[in-house]
Amino acid sequence: MSPTRPLAVVVLAAGSGTRMKSKTMKVLHPVCGRSMIGHVVTAALAVEPEHLVAVVGNGREQVGPHIQQMAPEAVLAVQETQDGTGHAVRVGLDALRERCGTTQGTVVVMAGDTPLMRGETLAGLVDDHAAAGRAITVLSGELDDPFGYGRIIRGADGSVTAIVEQKDADEQQAAVREISSGVFAFDGEFLAQALSRITNDNAKGEYYLPDVVGIAHDDGLSVGAHRIDDVMQTEGANDRAQLAALGRELNRRILDRWMRDGVTVMDPATTWVDADVVLERDVTLLPGVQLLGATVVAEDAVVGPDCTLKDTEVGRGARVVRTHAELAVVGEGASVGPFAYLRPGTRLDAGGKIGTFVETKNTHIGEGAKVPHLTYVGDAEIGEGTNIGAGTIFANYDGVDKHRTTVGRRAKTGANNTFVAPVEIGDGAVTGGGTVVRRDVPPGALAVSTGPQRNLEGWVLKRREGTPAADAAASALEGRAASHSDEPEVASEAPSESQSE
Ligand code: UD1
Ligand code: CA
Repeated sequence: MSPTRPLAVVVLAAGSGTRMKSKTMKVLHPVCGRSMIGHVVTAALAVEPEHLVAVVGNGREQVGPHIQQMAPEAVLAVQETQDGTGHAVRVGLDALRERCGTTQGTVVVMAGDTPLMRGETLAGLVDDHAAAGRAITVLSGELDDPFGYGRIIRGADGSVTAIVEQKDADEQQAAVREISSGVFAFDGEFLAQALSRITNDNAKGEYYLPDVVGIAHDDGLSVGAHRIDDVMQTEGANDRAQLAALGRELNRRILDRWMRDGVTVMDPATTWVDADVVLERDVTLLPGVQLLGATVVAEDAVVGPDCTLKDTEVGRGARVVRTHAELAVVGEGASVGPFAYLRPGTRLDAGGKIGTFVETKNTHIGEGAKVPHLTYVGDAEIGEGTNIGAGTIFANYDGVDKHRTTVGRRAKTGANNTFVAPVEIGDGAVTGGGTVVRRDVPPGALAVSTGPQRNLEGWVLKRREGTPAADAAASALEGRAASHSDEPEVASEAPSESQSE
């Protein structure tokens, strides 16, 4: 991306982030489906540094492996005590020198808690820094409320002379609205020697990285600021309110990008799309949709209203309504919902249907096959063109083990069936309503398991005498007797319940 590849990007992530009040380290909190440091590492890798160095400390047993998962080549430098950002960078440079024997080249330093930072912005900083041949270039921006940030102090000629922290700023300095984002491009050799000269003689008793700016100025070296208008990229989330605000803003940016790429988002305010989601043109997202993780939605598909799809693939032209899905695949032109729950391992082929109040898990539903109403399908294979009756339970669990059910092609199963797995229903087979299928059904067979119906005539009249039901029955039977005078009268002796057939 950048014509001037930096030697290294050093990401600072050793602080604990106490203001999050969390057992999870601050930089691991998620924003739009990635940890904060995940966004930072993604931006850092976009400038193709020769080395990525992460300074870890607090919670390093959580943070270290997380970084190495995203960037296996990353150098982890451990800062045992959090003595300030200047100290942290020194620890990072020591680790860099150990890895590659040098600090010669451009070294970018950034914090691990700025999830909106973009690779293009870092590339712009690096290019500007290299072109100007400076010792230091700080990424700066102007804020209406600069409280808490380091202020950029400029000399009469406009050159940067120092960065002063909030706690150390006098009234005049505190009034400056140009702030340091905490992101810098440095000449690596200069940085290494300047860091050995900074002190902790300040309000916090810490070694401040920004103090190297004053050192460069005193040495007569050039320091510049690369100013960006989009200051939100530089904002860090220090507590959960800021985390939510940055999350909403990142989501807005993600949606904006998809809309410009040809996706219809009816209500951006209630639509959430994670950073790694992929959408094709002419996808429509209706209100109340969350697309999470590695979800992919193909052309012309319509999702929503009110869906949560995680790591799910939606095929071209498919329709998904009021559905919760995870690790599921919905085929081209298929239809899901309303009120469906697709659990991991659900695969619905082209033109198939998973309908209302249906739960599926670890199940393959073939092309054009339908599971329309009130059904649980677990650990099953359903062949193409088959229709599963309303209210069916695929009983996959015997209390100890899970078993599979196979239903063949073009079968039609009756309403209110139970398939007691393991069991196989052949191609073109039919089952009657209420069947409990415990044995395999051969292709083309009709399976029924319910006994013949018994009518115990007059039972209500005798056993529930005087109830509204008995009265209703009596008058119905009288009416019938009047119109069919040749039919037998009400049975004088109602059969007992224990009567056998
Ligand atoms: C820092 C800058 C400030 C800048 C602001 C931008 C300093 C002294 N101040 O302030 O000029 O305007 O960022 O957001 O640099 N960290 C370590 N080890 C430490 C201390 C911090 O790794 O010993 C890490 C933190 O985990 C964090 C980053 O460095 O990721 C910045 O530290 P933080 O305490 O948030 O600095 P700010 O007070 O925000
Ligand atoms: Ca901060």
